[in-house]
Amino acid sequence: MSDSKREQRKDDHVKIAMAQSDAQLTDFDRIRFVHHSIPSVDVDQVDLSVKLPDFNLSSPLYINAMTGGSEWTKQINEKLAIVAKETGLAMAVGSTHAALRNPKMESTFTVAREKNPDGIIFSNVGADVPADLAKQSVEMLKADALQVHVNAPQELVMPEGNRTFSDWMNNINRIVKTVDVPVIVKEVGFGMSRETMEALNEIGVQYVDVSGRGGTNFVSIENERRDLKDMSYLQNWGQSTVESLLESKIVQSHMSVFASGGVRNPFDAIKCLALGADAVGMSRPFLEQVENNGVEQTIEYVEAFIEQMKKIAVMANVPNIEAIHNLEVIYDQSLQNWIQQRDLNQ
Ligand code: FNR
Repeated sequence: MSDSKREQRKDDHVKIAMAQSDAQLTDFDRIRFVHHSIPSVDVDQVDLSVKLPDFNLSSPLYINAMTGGSEWTKQINEKLAIVAKETGLAMAVGSTHAALRNPKMESTFTVAREKNPDGIIFSNVGADVPADLAKQSVEMLKADALQVHVNAPQELVMPEGNRTFSDWMNNINRIVKTVDVPVIVKEVGFGMSRETMEALNEIGVQYVDVSGRGGTNFVSIENERRDLKDMSYLQNWGQSTVESLLESKIVQSHMSVFASGGVRNPFDAIKCLALGADAVGMSRPFLEQVENNGVEQTIEYVEAFIEQMKKIAVMANVPNIEAIHNLEVIYDQSLQNWIQQRDLNQ
């Protein structure tokens, strides 16, 4: 594919994603907490900092992978980086393939590091990228971790997409052995199964981002990009973020699990934590904020988001992430079905 077509694709993704709307009812609405009437914790006592094996986060919220690879997306990365710096959020850039193929594109990603020299930044490559290039991607960003995205349904829906996946697991293994930073294997909105997470853990992966169904939908985006919407019937493919987190219960004692995909408000974020997630990512909401409202308002949006997470923690009477992990969660019938049929009750 030519560089200009690739740039066009990056811009298309941003444009179409911003035009998507979210489902009215998601699996986040299918779980509940129990209300207790007299909290024993004050809002300013709530500590949402996260200690991970390889780095610490001042808050569990992070800006998830989106973009880079064109002039417009460079500006988006710049704005997101300023928000990340001012709020202390970790931030991932989008797939760095464009820069690995064409050094002229590097600045569209490295702007994230320039604007936020001391922040936690994740670089991003696909699961088929040779290990030496994955290492180069980390060095380019001076990244604290590398996200390796797994997006088979997206590739398969794209006419020009990848059709060979059988070497992915071996290649991820090579990447884990080659790069000097933690590798986060990340979905792009189709969720993860217990089997996938266990297999990844066996080859030494310590971090996953389940990125489940319920938010940005790449079957729809790729179908939207062409006139013949011939695979749109697959738009409900995959596990929701809630289902993926239920799938992850078994690996949570020995892997760090990040949640993303359709997280749209502080209550969704707290629910992810209650299902055992260590951190919670959002993509499209940050894109919409910086593009529609600008950097200053996005900073206020993040501050309000975190403050509201603290208020919800007080309503649930829990002072920190560990206590949120142990909250009692009530599931509706459809989620109970999933738990039963997948034998996830431990
Ligand atoms: C993405 N996403 C993504 N993920 C990835 O690992 N590499 C990438 O290059 C991209 N590119 C990308 C572009 C745009 C415009 C969007 C909105 C998203 C997927 C993203 O990181 C996340 O997994 C999903 O978007 C689900 O989260 P939200 O958007 O529902 O919060």
